[in-house]
Amino acid sequence: MAVIRAEQSGDAAAIHTVHAACFPTDLEARLVDLLRAAGRLRVSLVAEVNGQVVGHVAFSPVTAASRAAGAGLAPVAVTEPHRRRGVAAALIRDGLDECRKAGFGWAVVLGEPAYYARFGFRPAAAFGLDDEYGGGPAFQAVELVAGGLHAGAGLVRYAPEFAAFSDPGVDE
Ligand SMILES: CC(C)(COP(=O)(O)OP(=O)(O)OC[C@H]1O[C@@H](n2cnc3c(N)ncnc32)[C@H](O)[C@@H]1OP(=O)(O)O)[C@@H](O)C(=O)NCCC(=O)NCCS
Repeated sequence: MAVIRAEQSGDAAAIHTVHAACFPTDLEARLVDLLRAAGRLRVSLVAEVNGQVVGHVAFSPVTAASRAAGAGLAPVAVTEPHRRRGVAAALIRDGLDECRKAGFGWAVVLGEPAYYARFGFRPAAAFGLDDEYGGGPAFQAVELVAGGLHAGAGLVRYAPEFAAFSDPGVDE
């Protein structure tokens, strides 16, 4: 079983390799590098099997008018031989816990609702949140602390590093 732990110094190259292997291009791998360099990789967890990094999840700050900053989940990846064993689920659950401990009251993701519902994500529109990417029902939010998502519409903006990308890691 995979061990989930915080990114440590020396993990950056292995994390880059995981994303480059899991996505069609190296965009997500470079995005993680940019977020780290900007100090916006606020929660960064790896999954390790036999000492090898096989998965990674990143959370960076997102903003919405009249709300305290939330955490944007993107990207998440697990290398093909280790999929469908709950590794991504463990990364996401632990990552959301770490976001809560870091003081984030809410989190958002652009992804498959059937998958992310298990972590408590619901369509962000129900919370009055819009996204910059036209994600529709794929744009989801979860409250990490009671009252973290109070009423009030707002456009959610991802970290500036996402501007170079057409979307922040939507599931294919
Ligand atoms: C998506 C991904 C991280 C899942 O990793 P994983 O460790 O296999 O995930 P888990 O074992 O926790 O969950 C498997 C579940 O995810 C579903 N799933 C797998 N790939 C999926 C995808 N691309 N989109 C939506 N759901 C997916 C499976 O159907 C399975 O669902 P089930 O539990 O209802 O059967 C992995 O397939 C991956 O790295 N894909 C390429 C990168 C990517 O698309 N990342 C997500 C966008 S940032």
